[in-house]
Amino acid sequence: MTTDPRPRTDDPGVLLRATDVTKHYALRGDSLTRRRKVLRAVDGVSLEVRGGETLGIVGESGCGKSTLGRCLVRLTDITGGRVEFDGQDITTLSARRLRPVRPGMQLVFQDPQASLNPRRRAGDIVAEPLLIHRYGDSAAVRRRVAELFDVVGLSAAHLDRYPHEFSGGQRQRIGIARALATSPKLIVADEPVSALDVSIQAQVLNLFADLQDEFGLTYVFIAHDLGVVRHVSDRIAVMYLGEIVELADTETLYGAPAHPYTEALMSAVPEIDDGTGDPQAPRRERIVLTGDVPDPVARPAGCAFHTRCPYARELCAVERPRLAVTPSGRAVACHYPLVAAG
Ligand SMILES: Nc1ncnc2c1ncn2[C@@H]1O[C@H](COP(=O)(O)OP(=O)(O)OP(=O)(O)O)[C@@H](O)[C@H]1O
Ligand code: SF4
Ligand SMILES: [Mg+2]
Repeated sequence: MTTDPRPRTDDPGVLLRATDVTKHYALRGDSLTRRRKVLRAVDGVSLEVRGGETLGIVGESGCGKSTLGRCLVRLTDITGGRVEFDGQDITTLSARRLRPVRPGMQLVFQDPQASLNPRRRAGDIVAEPLLIHRYGDSAAVRRRVAELFDVVGLSAAHLDRYPHEFSGGQRQRIGIARALATSPKLIVADEPVSALDVSIQAQVLNLFADLQDEFGLTYVFIAHDLGVVRHVSDRIAVMYLGEIVELADTETLYGAPAHPYTEALMSAVPEIDDGTGDPQAPRRERIVLTGDVPDPVARPAGCAFHTRCPYARELCAVERPRLAVTPSGRAVACHYPLVAAG
């Protein structure tokens, strides 16, 4: 077992690489001590995303998923560490130097209602990134927008409508068309189906899959719902309080979670009872996650999960477990992983 989760080689297949990324927010101190508090939203994350794959990121609310997503595409400046995209270190690029890099990496937001300007027509919303990046003359932009509408399953009749005239699923299609406009290599999708009715979620997830096949897209797919990420991800990173606590192939992770937090998240996924199951079959043991995620301003010492972990022992409150990569490529940050290394 090695204890260094950082990439060992310059693998040309890697499109996005984050090395020890931190994002800290300085909060106003209380009026008595005036000491500023630091909120560690992302606290030392290292990961790689290979071209064409989907990396899922899961964790409870407040674990830092959205902040990490924004760091990965430099929508927010990072406090420490390094982000490389397509072979280029983008960590400290100025706005001007970042400009030619931006088209290659796009974000799709959770709430299409909030992320689309209500006063602009759908066609204009999708045209905006094309105009910013000087795609071509107005006829070329119009053609491209019509093509994008077609690609995401909207029709030409939708071009002149305003966001409120669409259903939630259609609005997310507009958000996806806008993200696709500049032909990105990477899309970071931040809970792109969480705000949608369950019946619509599958359609939008299928659209993501189709687009990946068609354009060879690479996704970072953020969700708090393990059921959703399972269906779209090649690999999954589980986050807790700003850290990755487990990272593994989807099948490996679901087959046998190694981190107690992953196990707890998985046992919280409701099992669907469609009446065809064997009533005699043993039921998955449910590990109930009690309490809330601790305040990231006051991260528990040792293992951040020890205040809620059913397996915690003395060492857990004292020593912080580091993310260790096993030879099989699974990474886990736990003193007492639930499966043996290998
Ligand atoms: N601009 C900011 N200033 C201060 N704190 C912030 C800021 N943005 C996020 N945070 C804090 O950082 C932590 C991580 O937030 P983040 O939104 O990344 O979590 P999340 O995992 O995406 O949660 P959710 O599932 O609710 O979307 C939270 O404690 C949040 O309050
Ligand atoms: S290090 Fe200890 S407290 Fe943390 S997840 Fe592992 S067993 Fe639980
Ligand atoms: Mg979020």
